[in-house]
Amino acid sequence: MIIREAKPADKNVILEFCKNTFSWGDYIKDVWNYWLDEENLFVIDVEKPVGMCHAFFSNNQVWLEGIRIEDSARRKGLASKLISHVESLAIKNKLDLAFMLIDIENMASLLMAKNLDYKIHETWKFYSLLPKPSENYNVKFGNVHETSLISHYVRSWRWIKLDKKAIRRLSDDNRLVYSNQEKNTSLAILTDSEHFKKTLIVTLHSGCEKNTLNLISYLQDFGFKNNYERIQILTKEDLPKLEHLEPRISFHLMKKPLN
Ligand SMILES: CC(C)(COP(=O)(O)OP(=O)(O)OC[C@H]1O[C@@H](n2cnc3c(N)ncnc32)[C@H](O)[C@@H]1OP(=O)(O)O)[C@@H](O)C(=O)NCCC(=O)NCCS
Repeated sequence: MIIREAKPADKNVILEFCKNTFSWGDYIKDVWNYWLDEENLFVIDVEKPVGMCHAFFSNNQVWLEGIRIEDSARRKGLASKLISHVESLAIKNKLDLAFMLIDIENMASLLMAKNLDYKIHETWKFYSLLPKPSENYNVKFGNVHETSLISHYVRSWRWIKLDKKAIRRLSDDNRLVYSNQEKNTSLAILTDSEHFKKTLIVTLHSGCEKNTLNLISYLQDFGFKNNYERIQILTKEDLPKLEHLEPRISFHLMKKPLN
């Protein structure tokens, strides 16, 4: 058994067992080439590749994603070995934290994470929102005190630390939008998916319904005017029931201190 960096020739073997991972299929085929370019795409080889995972290092943390083990190779400790491999690289690089995102219904993965000392840090909900023209909003842009309410924002489905540099960049690009018509500000951070075309990814802190509805109208209009096909909202709060806003999946953000 060896763990190594993936190479282009692994693609077909890996994609063959990553077709129907979940009831809806899998997304590995859509991200494989990007992840190969980004590096830190690992394969576990037992005569042939039987598992994979990708690691993304940023600030003081490592983000683990795309953990997959071929059906017949499961329950042999292989996913745990892949994760431990990534953690040891992170420790070598003096990083403090490891994170991964797991569907709240994925018991196998949650048990595996628990076994490896990951704890549920937060629970996030994924909503999809349809772009559509709207004039019914009044939002503000730029830095706002409430950014302190959000420690991480979502970039290409990775929870990345919202540090001062990120806040400045997002503010400069008008990607930090808020509504504070009453108390309890609602705040949205807008990013473009790096892996999927025409996909807007929004981290939303919902302070109160009035402000959140205001932001949602802005997001729909922004999405429509900028030709996005889909808007993906990630939030810790429950959002109001709306015709074009569909609740999809909930995820646990799993966290492990590395020292
Ligand atoms: C989740 C997954 C990666 C686990 O891979 P794996 O190589 O079988 O995991 P491991 O052998 O390292 O399991 C370690 C521990 O996790 C728990 N575990 C893993 N799979 C489990 C299952 N199906 N049921 C119950 N516990 C399970 C057990 O505690 C296991 O230890 P044990 O076998 O000694 O009891 C694999 O099932 C998979 O590819 N699933 C589909 C994709 C997926 O869900 N990926 C994770 C997305 S976040």
